Amino acid sequence: MLEFKQNIRGNVALGVNPIGCKQEVLNQIAYVKNKGTYQGPKKVLIIGASSSYGLASRISLAFGAGADTIGVSFEKGPKNERNLGTAGWYNNIAFREAAEKEGLIAKNFVQDAFSHESKQDVIAYIKSEFGGKIDLVVYSLASGRRTDPDTGEVYSSAIKALGEPVVGPNINMQNEAFYTETLEPANEQEIAGTVKVMGGEDWQLWMEALKEADVLADGVLTTNYSYLGTELNRPYYGGGTLGLAKADCDEKAETINELLADINGKAQIVVATAVTTKASSVIPFFPVYCIALYKVMTEKGTHETPIMHIDRIYRDMVYGEKAEYDEVGRLRPDNWELDSDTQAKTKALIQQLNEENFKSDLTAYDILYKEFSNLSGFMVDGYVEQDVTIEELKALEF
Ligand code: NAI
Repeated sequence: MLEFKQNIRGNVALGVNPIGCKQEVLNQIAYVKNKGTYQGPKKVLIIGASSSYGLASRISLAFGAGADTIGVSFEKGPKNERNLGTAGWYNNIAFREAAEKEGLIAKNFVQDAFSHESKQDVIAYIKSEFGGKIDLVVYSLASGRRTDPDTGEVYSSAIKALGEPVVGPNINMQNEAFYTETLEPANEQEIAGTVKVMGGEDWQLWMEALKEADVLADGVLTTNYSYLGTELNRPYYGGGTLGLAKADCDEKAETINELLADINGKAQIVVATAVTTKASSVIPFFPVYCIALYKVMTEKGTHETPIMHIDRIYRDMVYGEKAEYDEVGRLRPDNWELDSDTQAKTKALIQQLNEENFKSDLTAYDILYKEFSNLSGFMVDGYVEQDVTIEELKALEF
């Protein structure tokens, strides 16, 4: 019998529990089904579909709106008993199995979304087996590296400040430590690399390729998740290298809007709330913000996990009647996080935190840790242990 161990390095999860991942996907599906159905798109492409915001989008759109979906992600399958692959691999499988049971198409492409080849493979599939046209493209990639598809040059993103170093408290979930970190400002190469990897260039390349191939339906929508945050995280997020990458996505949205004008299409930036994901856990200082924010929002009844947030975005806002936009047309579901009383209380709480109390009832460290563990299939509600062999895991088809 395989033993599944949670193995955390810093704030990166290396272990995986495939059975727990499946249960977590089923829990998210149950959340959506419990809310009932809504009118939405029927043919959806999700780029970055295997975890957190992308996976939640896929689950909400499939089980809420009855959409057939194509998911693109970069994940690894099991090799041997010591290397079981990545959580997203098992999420993809659990999603496909559940969607197919409901008669929905759920096609997984596990390959580098940044390459030309991925785009052409997806296009060929849309034409031959997916009905020829798609009506929603969700772009939800988060990556540390990107290979330029034309030059082959590899770019890396660096989550850094601009101009001045930032000093502040951070949390290490591996040793459950609270410590002071100094984040150095980025150099020119790091700034350019972050924009190249996390900016909107690849989103635009996808939309150009899809349009060129004539697989976008009239009125097509494409969404891209952004984050703006507040003064509490601006020095290292919105005002740092990631903020420049997000600003690049804002610019590319305008270019894509021009591209899609003749088919009545639209590119929509969605400013999403702070949630616990593999990508956000490695943002310096951000876990401290989260344990304070989640505490305040839990008390107010406004704390959301990715599935709660994303389902509200599509059900109530994008395809519902409760959309709220800002002055430049971005959708703003993050207004619960940005609520002034929430922010004031979060700020006051952060100021009280130290090594002694950061794990106490004062904060939502327990929530952060559970949500982080859930991403790899640990501490999952409803989990039932099962005997599985490596052969059985290897035999699962993605
Ligand atoms: P995540 O790390 O949970 O998921 C990233 C997805 O991208 C995974 O499906 C992964 O397989 C896929 N991926 C990465 N590199 C790939 C490649 N080369 N080819 C194909 N697939 C690849 O990330 P998360 O946090 O859900 O982020 C998604 C988006 O949401 C990002 O743009 C992020 O900035 C944004 N966002 C995140 C917030 C947060 O608090 N986590 C808040 C607001 C926005």
